[in-house]
Order: sequence, then structure tokens, then C-alpha cells
Amino acid sequence: MSGMGKMKPAVRSRAEKDASLRAGKKEDIVIKVRGLVNGFGGKIIHDHLDLDVRRGEVLGVVGGSGTGKSVLLRSIIGLNQPLEGSIKVFGQETVGIAPEDMRGLQLHWGVLFQEGALFSSMTVAQNIQVPMRRWTHMPQHLMDELAAMKLSLVGLPEDTARKYPSELSGGMKKRAGLARALSLDPELLFLDEPTAGLDPISAAQFDQLIRDLQKSLGLTVFLVTHDIDTLRAATDRIAVLVRKKITVGTIKELLRDDDPWIHEYFSGPRGHAALGDM
Ligand SMILES: Nc1ncnc2c1ncn2[C@@H]1O[C@H](COP(=O)(O)OP(=O)(O)OP(=O)(O)O)[C@@H](O)[C@H]1O
Ligand SMILES: [Mg+2]
Repeated sequence: MSGMGKMKPAVRSRAEKDASLRAGKKEDIVIKVRGLVNGFGGKIIHDHLDLDVRRGEVLGVVGGSGTGKSVLLRSIIGLNQPLEGSIKVFGQETVGIAPEDMRGLQLHWGVLFQEGALFSSMTVAQNIQVPMRRWTHMPQHLMDELAAMKLSLVGLPEDTARKYPSELSGGMKKRAGLARALSLDPELLFLDEPTAGLDPISAAQFDQLIRDLQKSLGLTVFLVTHDIDTLRAATDRIAVLVRKKITVGTIKELLRDDDPWIHEYFSGPRGHAALGDM
């Protein structure tokens, strides 16, 4: 124990970090982005973009293809290093964060990526257990029980656990991916185009599932989508990526926005069909 004296500052700073993370998690703004700049090869994608995501909301994120929705998501979860700006998640700065501190945060969120790929050589249960294996030391029987619980949570039959991704329909794969994202009981969920490629009925069921999960688990959801039906059915507010920045509002507020892209998106023929007389 004689070496403990030397350890103290590091131990204390860890405790301090945990305390500040706990304090941050009580805040009403779960994600705070300020002055975010992203670009590749001299082309600017985000130009001093600001965004707040409130605790317990489903925030829809829309914008034309290539406007940087996925890059924004990846920046928030630390997979893309921005050129400039600040991103706080649960009150903790993630730009330039040390990897060990990032790991502490990663435990509190789940992600369903746009590519959404399940590992094809693993069963669905094994896929769901990937984060458990990575972050915890649970015995196999407990992980099996948890995987079964997650499957029922996302509305998949019990026998899906033993199936391989190639044996599932597109909608089932999305649900299995969602089960994996929920593996560690996150409080924050990132979904990138979860309904893309689904037929309208499966997509609507998935929207309802997101809503149900958000309500029953108290999740905060960052939901990237092209789907105007999803925006209407599943989101509280919408962030539109337009002109390298973000405009946030409810559907009703955005219907009154006079930006040409926003107007076309919400009030054009497809918007009109989905939103009717809102
Ligand atoms: N790692 C990278 N290196 C270089 N360019 C990149 C990288 N990641 C993204 N980009 C570019 O940044 C821009 C925004 O990409 P992003 O994937 O965020 O678009 P998006 O809004 O998600 O589009 P979509 O709706 O098609 O998914 C694109 O022009 C893309 O080619
Ligand atoms: Mg994308």
C-alpha cells in the first residue's frame, strides 16, 4: 500500500471526472454543440454549427444527402475529429477528450449506424452481446438472458436469438441492430436512417417502436432520417442541416420557415402528403 500516495492525484481526478459526469447527466441539455466546423479536403461541411439536444426528447435530424448528418453524429460520438468547435455530452467536452474518458461516456449511449451492419458470422444473440463482452464481465447465461430481454424489447421473437443476420428480413435486421444498440441500457440513443429501405408499414412500426422505447426507457434519441413520416410520428423537434448550419424547430415552426430547402421539404408535394393540414 506504500505506493498509494503517488496514486492519489490520479484517483482523485478520476472521482472528480465521475462526479462532473454525474452532474452533467442531470442537466437538461444532453448534447451541446457550439461552433462546430467540419470539412474534408478543403470542402467545409459544417460551418460554426450550434445544436442543443434536450433530455428525453427525440430529435429528428434531416438535410439533403451529403449535408453532413452522419458526420455530425460521428463527431458527437467521437469518431470524427472536428476542425473546430466544442461538443459536450452529459456536460463533458468530447473534442480532444482522452480515450479513457471517452470510454466512460460510451457506456451511456448506444448507436445504430447508417450501414447498420450486424456481424454476419455471429448469431443475433452474439451480436447483441458484443457490447456486453467489450465492457462487462458477465457470465454467459446472464448475457443470454439479457439478449433475450433486448429481443423482446424490440419486438423480435425469441428464436431470433439463434438466427444469423442472413436469415432475417430487412426490418428484423434493423430491430436486431436496435437491440444491440440497447445492449448496455443506454440513456442516449443515436440512430442513423433506421427506416431506410423498409416498406412503409415496417417503417411505421419501427417509428412506433422508437417512440415506445423513448417513453418507457426515458431515452434521449438523436434520429437521423430522410423520412418525413418518421419525423411526424417519432420526433419532438427537428434539426435541419441547411447551408452548413442547423435550424431547429417543431414541424409547425419549420412549416413557417422561409428557407427554400426547408420550405420545399416540409411544404412540397411529399411533405404535404405526409403532413396534411398541420
Ligand atoms: N471520412 C471522410 N473523409 C472525407 N469525406 C468525408 C468523410 N466522411 C464524410 N465525408 C464527406 O462529407 C460529406 C457529408 O457526409 P455525410 O455522410 O455526413 O452526409 P449525410 O448527410 O449523412 O448524407 P446521406 O443522407 O447520404 O447519408 C459528404 O460529402 C461526404 O463525402
Ligand atoms: Mg448519412
